[in-house]
Amino acid sequence: MGAGAVRKPVPATLIPGDGIGPEIVEAVLQMLAAVGAPFVWERREAGMAGVETAGDPLPAETLESIRRTGLALKGPLTTPVGGGFRSINVRLREEFQLYANVRPSRTMVPGGRFDDIDIVLIRENLEGFYVGVEHYIPIDGDPHAVAIGSGLNTRAGSRRIAQFAFDYAVRTGRKKVTIVHKANILKALTGLFLETARTVGEGYADRIKMDERIVDACAMQLVLNPWQFDVIVTTNLFGDILSDLIAGLIGGLGMAPGANIGEKAAIFEAVHGSAPDIAGKGVANPVAVALAACLMLDHVGCGDQAARLRNALELALKSDGVRTRDLGGTATTSQLVNAVLLRLKD
Ligand code: NAI
Repeated sequence: MGAGAVRKPVPATLIPGDGIGPEIVEAVLQMLAAVGAPFVWERREAGMAGVETAGDPLPAETLESIRRTGLALKGPLTTPVGGGFRSINVRLREEFQLYANVRPSRTMVPGGRFDDIDIVLIRENLEGFYVGVEHYIPIDGDPHAVAIGSGLNTRAGSRRIAQFAFDYAVRTGRKKVTIVHKANILKALTGLFLETARTVGEGYADRIKMDERIVDACAMQLVLNPWQFDVIVTTNLFGDILSDLIAGLIGGLGMAPGANIGEKAAIFEAVHGSAPDIAGKGVANPVAVALAACLMLDHVGCGDQAARLRNALELALKSDGVRTRDLGGTATTSQLVNAVLLRLKD
């Protein structure tokens, strides 16, 4: 869509989230307004904020809103460790069958340990060890003497994510997809994933190169020579871990966005969590959520606005050198926002 064209409003759900969530989401709303994003927001709560306002970490009206809009931008949500409620992020993925988690990582701040990184990790989002089938076996009065957790991968789920990854590679002009697994040890669980993804990849052999790695070797190679990777497709837990590793290659969690895509809904968020250690201090990096908003703009066909915002973010960080503490700078959240808004006026 060309500059000046009038876009239809796009209803979308906005979940500010916990910890640093409200401050960085507010920052991103200013950027989205400046690029003329078409979103008309329905604000809803979830996580600890949901518990405080509605007595529920995932209130019914939040679910209803996402069901209606099929589109959400979400700040990070706090999940109690060990006991407490089950991760709301996992529940949202299950509720809306958001089977593909897309996590692109591209260097925007040069001069770090690694330059020119451009890797997209595609993570299966519903299966694996995240199904939460866990229990304890009590022995001799110790109720937690043994802990058992089961993983679950299906042929259909593996095929769907592999197809998504290869289609994504074709659509975005990528050259190679690396299948990451641990089929040498978890022979059934990740063997099924490997075997199915390979079969899918063979169907794309004329367009996309296929490659495979065992997850531990992949982790090492991502540090030794990350430039060999293009698109990575993997199971849920490995994807969770490797995407944080890859975020580290481009300056940390404050730079890494994620999209959770399903057939009927899509939820966009930062890879990072609610960062309780810096919440309320006005120093959080809003770039990951801003980049998530760019993925959301791409998703609704506003690629031009996404490109403008990405460009302004890059100029503010790179040319103007306005960086938050996590990127080695001294800027506050609002100073970075102002730098981006100024660049959007250029
Ligand atoms: P975290 O990602 O919140 O923080 C890890 C470290 O990175 C902290 O030192 C934090 O200050 C820093 N950091 C994270 N985001 C930053 C940003 N935008 N700007 C500057 N620094 C940033 O991970 P942690 O501490 O393990 O988890 C905190 C809470 O977040 C937990 O309850 C966890 O369950 C939840 N979480 C939620 C996620 C989500 O909603 N998608 C994802 C990951 C964790």
